[in-house]
Amino acid sequence: MNVDRCICHDITFAEVKAIAQERGLNSVEEIEANRIACSNCKLCVPYIKRMLKTGETVFDRSVRYLK
Ligand code: FES
Repeated sequence: MNVDRCICHDITFAEVKAIAQERGLNSVEEIEANRIACSNCKLCVPYIKRMLKTGETVFDRSVRYLK
């Protein structure tokens, strides 16, 4: 099973990426402050960090992504 979204905000990482690029947001803190993702349970934070670093938007659930 893959991880591809922030469940709390009901938004895919691909959608987060597009919005972040459009608005020039480059950090989890900026994404959270704009209430796009990451502002509730924080389970998506490691994935969003990796998305910002690598551009990936779908992650293998069995792989542990460090903070
Ligand atoms: S899954 Fe993103 S804040 Fe909960």
